[in-house]
Amino acid sequence: MGLNLVQAWSQAKQRLEAAGLAGPVIDARLLVEAAAEATRTDIVTDPYRALTPEQEARLADYLARRERREPVSHILGRRGFWKIMLQVTPHVLTPRPDTETVIDVVLKDFPEHAPWSVLDLGVGSGAILLAILAERPAAKGLGIDVSEEALAVARDNAAHLGLAGRAAFFRGDWTAGLGSESFDLVVSNPPYIASDVIETLEPEVRDYEPRIALEGGADGLDAYRTLAPEILRVLKPGGRFAVEIGFDQKAAVETLFREAGARDLRTVKDLADRDRVVAGSK
Ligand SMILES: C[S@@+](CC[C@H](N)C(=O)[O-])C[C@H]1O[C@@H](n2cnc3c(N)ncnc32)[C@H](O)[C@@H]1O
Repeated sequence: MGLNLVQAWSQAKQRLEAAGLAGPVIDARLLVEAAAEATRTDIVTDPYRALTPEQEARLADYLARRERREPVSHILGRRGFWKIMLQVTPHVLTPRPDTETVIDVVLKDFPEHAPWSVLDLGVGSGAILLAILAERPAAKGLGIDVSEEALAVARDNAAHLGLAGRAAFFRGDWTAGLGSESFDLVVSNPPYIASDVIETLEPEVRDYEPRIALEGGADGLDAYRTLAPEILRVLKPGGRFAVEIGFDQKAAVETLFREAGARDLRTVKDLADRDRVVAGSK
């Protein structure tokens, strides 16, 4: 007889734990849910439901991929971020809980029903831009990325979330393609990992995330050197910005924005109490 839901979960946990993965309980649950087309509630309320042979085979495939350190988001092709679900492919950075700090900072500053505009530089999957637009129904936004493949993912995500009417996307090298347009808010989570640190990262990131989404040059700060003056250029007077940073980049990034003329500079910590977002205004 085949496995039931609770047995499948338990065996999956053991397998991932034996492979030395961090967070085997949640990963196992997510993979079992997807393989068995079950909900979280099903595992609790219908634990003895048997998996079909096809579902067992799918689960075995998912577990083998996870053992090779492929991220769960790549295996499932999706990832929850803030209050939205996003499609994820190997061409985009998997949205991170840390990045939700950007959303938190921004929503406090912008009222729900006012019509305002937001620019997301390095939009990737669309995580930041779409989470903001989903929360602010009168806002509209533009997402720029240098990767055409990432933009295709962001456009699909906007369409699936019913946000395509308020979100535009174009390919560009940061702000280079923008003319005299200006925005009430600019957000960015640029690549900020120093080149020689990349090889020390977990395999899920080092081997599966796009390098262009990670690598920030010798000291990790290349993108901010371009972005600080450019963000100030494309902001409306009084406009605000919020950029994600590495946990040890507060002083350097604040300095770059101060030198670019930013006002009201502050750094906000993430839920793990690490410096994560530099925000300010023009
Ligand atoms: C760290 S990822 C952030 C993706 C998404 N905003 C998020 O927070 O999940 C950085 C993004 O910047 C893009 N990028 C890198 N260099 C760029 C450039 N010169 N101009 C525009 N986008 C760039 C990458 O393709 C990638 O999608």
